[in-house]
Amino acid sequence: MAFIEIDHIRKIYRKATVTVPAVNDISFDIDKGEFLAIIGKSGSGKSTLLNLLGGLDTPTSGEIRFEGANLFAEGKDGLVKHRRHRVGMVFQSFQLIPGQTAAENIELALAFGGVSRSERKARALELLAQVGLAERADHYPAELSGGEAQRVAIARALANDPAILLADEPTGNLDTQNGDIVLGILQDLHRQGRTIIMITHDPDMARVAQRTIRMQDGQLLDSQLTHESLNAKAL
Ligand SMILES: Nc1ncnc2c1ncn2[C@@H]1O[C@H](COP(=O)(O)OP(=O)(O)OP(=O)(O)O)[C@@H](O)[C@H]1O
Ligand SMILES: [Mg+2]
Repeated sequence: MAFIEIDHIRKIYRKATVTVPAVNDISFDIDKGEFLAIIGKSGSGKSTLLNLLGGLDTPTSGEIRFEGANLFAEGKDGLVKHRRHRVGMVFQSFQLIPGQTAAENIELALAFGGVSRSERKARALELLAQVGLAERADHYPAELSGGEAQRVAIARALANDPAILLADEPTGNLDTQNGDIVLGILQDLHRQGRTIIMITHDPDMARVAQRTIRMQDGQLLDSQLTHESLNAKAL
């Protein structure tokens, strides 16, 4: 049994008379500790698939199993648990809460994860230190650079120590230098054993992953091991 099994998953959006098969019968497995990149043209269904993996959305049909258990079997409660404890998500637009400081954004995620009030502050500072931003704890999102905001968002995604990190174009709004910093953090998290699933438009970023899945029109076009992981296997 693979760590994550995506089994004939479909998400069909219906709006009035228009039917969009955003994800159209996709099946593949993801190993524990894998770094997977998802690429494909705009509208090919990448975010829809990632949102299903993150339990932000439910499929029209099919299953996604984590260690054998279907994510969608227990309804809303199961999805809430999944989002709070098993996955962390990072988005292109950071999605920090504007009225809360960097530390408070993370403390809120810790509160949802059941961490006691007395422990939250210290844990938030620890998480910020992990992404090199301890000194920005009291800054509001508007007082952070894009690169810093994304690092705070990553710290928040890690709040409840999820085994899986899902990132939807995490460097899409960043310049090359900040993009490299964020990618470096994702690589470190991968080395620490986390499973990373990252959508990207950037072939250089996809090369850092061990495997790249290509999507087209809601379907899986192909799956390729990157040169680095091929080389590693050959050694
Ligand atoms: N909530 C929704 N209601 C209706 N259609 C939707 C919805 N969300 C996405 N779609 C449609 O589903 C298809 C896949 O969208 P998705 O956002 O998954 O693509 P994507 O590969 O992430 O694209 P991009 O690279 O532009 O982010 C698109 O045709 C989109 O218009
Ligand atoms: Mg998208």
